[in-house]
Amino acid sequence: MSAGATMREDRSAACRDAQGALIPTEPVPVAQLWRDGVAQLRAAGIEHAEREVSWLLEEALGVSRLAIHADGTARVGGHAAEQARRLFARRAQHEPVQYLLGTQDFCGLTCEVTPAVLIPRPETELLVEETLRVCGSQRSARIVDVCTGSGCIAVAIARVLPDAMLWATDLSQQAVDVARRNVSRNRVEARVTVLQGDLLAPLASAGVAGSVDVIVSNPPYIAAWEWPTLPPDVAEFEPRLALDGGPDGLRAHRRIADLAPCWLRPGGWLILEIGQKQSVPLAEYLQASGAYGDAQVRQDFRGMDRVVSAQRKG
Ligand SMILES: C[S@@+](CC[C@H](N)C(=O)[O-])C[C@H]1O[C@@H](n2cnc3c(N)ncnc32)[C@H](O)[C@@H]1O
Repeated sequence: MSAGATMREDRSAACRDAQGALIPTEPVPVAQLWRDGVAQLRAAGIEHAEREVSWLLEEALGVSRLAIHADGTARVGGHAAEQARRLFARRAQHEPVQYLLGTQDFCGLTCEVTPAVLIPRPETELLVEETLRVCGSQRSARIVDVCTGSGCIAVAIARVLPDAMLWATDLSQQAVDVARRNVSRNRVEARVTVLQGDLLAPLASAGVAGSVDVIVSNPPYIAAWEWPTLPPDVAEFEPRLALDGGPDGLRAHRRIADLAPCWLRPGGWLILEIGQKQSVPLAEYLQASGAYGDAQVRQDFRGMDRVVSAQRKG
């Protein structure tokens, strides 16, 4: 591989760093950059240092991983090398790699992420599975995704159910902006409406009271006792609004459970993601409300209780 032909080169004699200092643009061996990056991330305790350095090099150099590793003699200009080093430094400070790259895969779809939204987690795909399960053969369902964040859940469901109509809500206007971009990039804008506001309140304009088939949500659920246990990647970089679930982590769940019966049709489903030690108290809360049938609990791929579902009585 000729580095000049395939990698982003800067042809200026020198460029400046954030402080205005001149950075030399001598070509740098890519293999050296890779080794330096891996050493830096390992020293910072990053678990998958090799994989992440390859991703960050792809981002900084604008070439595929294959090209990076195919030619051990390739070199890149000093400007591109400096960009790569800046990304390594940010990752070494535990900034999540998804925020540095700007995307995360969810249910096989590419989802834009910014620091305004939670990074979609693989276990949340279970909410999508559970929604598809309760919809069964009902392809034209009305579905609401509360606390949509990046919009990953609503977009994934819309892609699988081509006749479903969806509404997605979030309190954060910045999250709503990201969700709308994900709706557009996945070409489901004709069927997914993203609305800003508190939990189910934005539905007032949708005219769907008493007719919704499924309300699905991954609300904030970090309990007060869990904060000291969170890794810095999460606690210092992901939005507090997306994480903080109040003293026991179930503050938003209880509010959604109280509000949902007004919007669900009789027999419609409420499907909520939960964290540690939350399945029993949430199931008891749903039971005590008298509005729902028996709660069902599903485990994620690690065997942890992850999703609680209940059907509106009526
Ligand atoms: C755990 S994140 C889930 C994001 C996304 N659904 C996912 O699964 O990746 C929770 C989201 O709830 C939003 N949120 C927090 N409080 C809210 C409220 N009162 N009303 C609506 N959205 C809220 C946050 O902004 C955040 O985007």
